[in-house]
Amino acid sequence: MILPDTAQIVGDHLHLGGCDTLELAQTFGTPLYVFDEATLRNRARAYVQAFSSRYPDVLLCYAAKAFLNPWLARLLASEGFGLDVVSGGEMTVAARAGFPMSKVHLHGNNKLPQELDLALELGVGRIVLDNFTEIGLLDEIAQQRGCVAEVLLRIAPGVEAHTHEYLRTGGSYSKFGIPVLTDQAAEAVGQIVARRHLKLVGFHAHIGSQIFDLLPFEETVEILMDFALQMRERYDFELGEISPGGGLGIQYTDGDDPPAIDDVAGAITGAMHRLVAKHQLQPPLLVLEPGRSIVGSAGVTLYTAGAIKDIPSRRKYVAVDGGMADNIRPALYQADYRAIVANKASAPAEETVTIAGKYCESGDLLINDIRLPRIEPGDVIAIPGTGAYCIPMSSNYNLSLKAPIVAVSGGEATLVRRRETYDDLFACEVA
Ligand code: LLP
Repeated sequence: MILPDTAQIVGDHLHLGGCDTLELAQTFGTPLYVFDEATLRNRARAYVQAFSSRYPDVLLCYAAKAFLNPWLARLLASEGFGLDVVSGGEMTVAARAGFPMSKVHLHGNNKLPQELDLALELGVGRIVLDNFTEIGLLDEIAQQRGCVAEVLLRIAPGVEAHTHEYLRTGGSYSKFGIPVLTDQAAEAVGQIVARRHLKLVGFHAHIGSQIFDLLPFEETVEILMDFALQMRERYDFELGEISPGGGLGIQYTDGDDPPAIDDVAGAITGAMHRLVAKHQLQPPLLVLEPGRSIVGSAGVTLYTAGAIKDIPSRRKYVAVDGGMADNIRPALYQADYRAIVANKASAPAEETVTIAGKYCESGDLLINDIRLPRIEPGDVIAIPGTGAYCIPMSSNYNLSLKAPIVAVSGGEATLVRRRETYDDLFACEVA
């Protein structure tokens, strides 16, 4: 399903969450990020149901990097979720939104001393150590604060996920985690257990993002559990938690066929059950970190068509009022999207066009060669699947203003973030 769950075509118009997207565009302007609350809650609940029905002890930590603001933090807290954060900014948004900080896990390959300190101050539940430098640093900061930090160790499992090169993180030579291929990961465990202000509770790995195969997830669980068993032998370490990360892909185009949340849950918990039974272990807490598959399909970006440039027998460009500043993914990863003309939603496709952004780069093309109804300036173009990794990766390129966010539910639209103003561009200028 590329469009959000509540999408409907009424007359010629695309409706989301019971709201006419044409009215949304008129009321709030474009570009506009629209989030369908029902889709968000449906995905969150599907994860809870799929994992909790199969495994005794589960914590779902939404990966905030996919998109976080106070509204979403509150919504996910109300669904019982924890949070995976990677920066002082994400931690602060969570804390100010009243998120239960004991369910927050701090990740990152170079956590700054002030971020580690803030994590301890805010009562972040787990810090996921990524490298040797951090072991000493966190131990020192925890000592200064007179506390013991509960930590996981991130290992690089050596699992290559079939996804875009930039989205792979599980390889042995990745910048993330300590490779299990060498003895370094075991050495790191030795160092952590010897520290007085660190308490090792388990292991983490994350192999990448936008993954469609189930096998790499199972392999990751096996490698994590196998490593935990080795650490039991070597250091008498009792495993409390295991976290095989996030990474489930979503559908962006008709060609994408991601597995269902239920299938991933079956694969991961199946592997856990097999290994727990084989080695007669207490089932450790299972931590999952889905990001994209919670928010991705809930978001649709609305644009207004402007300049149309038809280069005979070459290419027809339809330029919209946004582009790489609100969605960098096509330019950065050659990510594919589909589009709907929101005010001609039931009209037949008539021509092949390229949807271009308005920014000063030739690479600022949102969609190459898509068949759509004939577009005129003023038409509203909706691009679905933009709920993940668009807002947090947005920029003020060309000193453009960041787009607002509207949540739709039951026919009501709520502005949750306003459009930036030209004054906002001066907010940090002090000279
Ligand atoms: N856990 C860890 C440790 C991660 O690094 C990530 C994503 C996740 C969980 C969530 O993965 P997800 O379920 O969202 O796939 N900017 C790229 C994606 C980068 C993902 C980084 N890490 C994109 O736009 O496709």
